[in-house]
Amino acid sequence: MFISFEGIEGSGKSTQIKLLREFLNQEGLSPVVIREPGGTQIGEKVRDIFLTKTDEHFDPLTEVLLLYSSRKQLDTNVIKPALKDGKIVIADRFADATVAYQAYGKNVSKDFIAQLHSDLEISNPDLTFFIDISPELSKARISDRESDRMESESTEFFSKVRSGYQACANNSEKVITIEGTDTIENIFLKIKEAVTKKLNVSME
Ligand code: TMP
Repeated sequence: MFISFEGIEGSGKSTQIKLLREFLNQEGLSPVVIREPGGTQIGEKVRDIFLTKTDEHFDPLTEVLLLYSSRKQLDTNVIKPALKDGKIVIADRFADATVAYQAYGKNVSKDFIAQLHSDLEISNPDLTFFIDISPELSKARISDRESDRMESESTEFFSKVRSGYQACANNSEKVITIEGTDTIENIFLKIKEAVTKKLNVSME
């Protein structure tokens, strides 16, 4: 089973991924946890290029191609083999992030991204948790971090990204939207319930 977590910066994805990993470990299910961009030696180098601030204009299409080179490498070397072995894969961001950040946030064609995704035969999550917070709360939550290239974007940009995630959630039954202002415990209860339900269905 392939589970992804999505949301703008500061939404609490990392905390929830940690809790889910601990829960699944206790159940003896040892999930494979990955992040994007990154997760392979080549992918981590791409991540570095992607997140490092530069004076040069960073073309949004270059962003998409970099993201998909990292994604292809991760899918081939980690995700597909793990799924084939019957493991649970948990991704800290995946393809919906490209739709939200590059299509909605930076006006790259959604069709181009969808075509690239399909031509590269990339795996698709069975379940996606979109932890939704406002761009204002996001800015406040990450204000004490030294910002990388993407975190330096404007509140307006993150509004567009949020609406991209909302559109992804509206277009797919596999995406569960979770109110990110709820407590860590309540958010995790919802995640645990949805994952347990999906696991039971897949074992029937
Ligand atoms: P993070 O892993 O620390 O959240 O940083 C990843 C950054 O990359 C984050 O700002 C979102 C951005 N990103 C995209 O713009 N498009 C993508 O497809 C992915 C996976 C990430």
